[in-house]
Amino acid sequence: MKSSQVSIGIYDSGVGGLTVWYALKKLIKQDLVYFGDTAHIPYGEKTKEQIIFYSQTIIDFLKKQQVGLIVAACNTSSALALPSLQCSVSLPIFGVIIPAVQKGIEATHNKKVGLIATVGTIDSGSYQKHFSSMAPDVKLIPQKCPKLVTLIESGKLDGAEVNGVLHEYLEPLLEKGIDTLILGCTHYPFLLRPIREIIGPKITIIDPAWQTARNVREWLIAHNYTDSMLPTSDEFWTSGDPQEFQKKAERFIGRLIDTVNYLPFGEETMIYE
Ligand code: DGL
Repeated sequence: MKSSQVSIGIYDSGVGGLTVWYALKKLIKQDLVYFGDTAHIPYGEKTKEQIIFYSQTIIDFLKKQQVGLIVAACNTSSALALPSLQCSVSLPIFGVIIPAVQKGIEATHNKKVGLIATVGTIDSGSYQKHFSSMAPDVKLIPQKCPKLVTLIESGKLDGAEVNGVLHEYLEPLLEKGIDTLILGCTHYPFLLRPIREIIGPKITIIDPAWQTARNVREWLIAHNYTDSMLPTSDEFWTSGDPQEFQKKAERFIGRLIDTVNYLPFGEETMIYE
């Protein structure tokens, strides 16, 4: 008989994956271990080899923390690293792209779906590949947004600079008549309000975090895990400055965090042998 508790490892390049952490927290009662790789942010500008190395290192670390499943709460890692890591890692790993595509297909009526994401995610062609196989009649209109992650990580969630950059990225999509917009980077839901103001009330916005959390919940139920009856724990780790991460994370999730643990790693320094 399986125990009802399984702790869940979640990772991203920074605070973006907290949007997925938040959805998991709302839908699932299990221990959560979060890793924000702020030493290597932005992932969107890195090579595929670098993303695979960072993701593999973090996954190895989360496995040592005894997690039973992992959520890659990062589109760039889901696009560039998961296809190979899902075959080599012994734990179930959930990405955020398939849930986003599922919701995008459900939401669109005019079959024109906009995608905003990092350069790495869009260049990988991962979203296009999934749309082509799941709904070939849907036209995906991608827009690279290289400036957004840095703005969000620097704490800028509104104001003239954010609005200017959002106009630059969103207007080409509006001109093409999209009726659905996928937030294809887990950082972007922190800009939901200014995005909504620019695109108006009629376009459906997809935040993949919620469908990802629902998929994890279904998997847990199918594997006979039940919600923990005991109080659950939340652990946070970062490869960057823990105080800075804590300040940002507390502001973004709207609650206090006990401690953020520091775990540095670099190209030459593996966390574990
Ligand atoms: N939140 C990540 C994503 O979903 C981060 C991107 C980055 O670090 O550039 O792709």
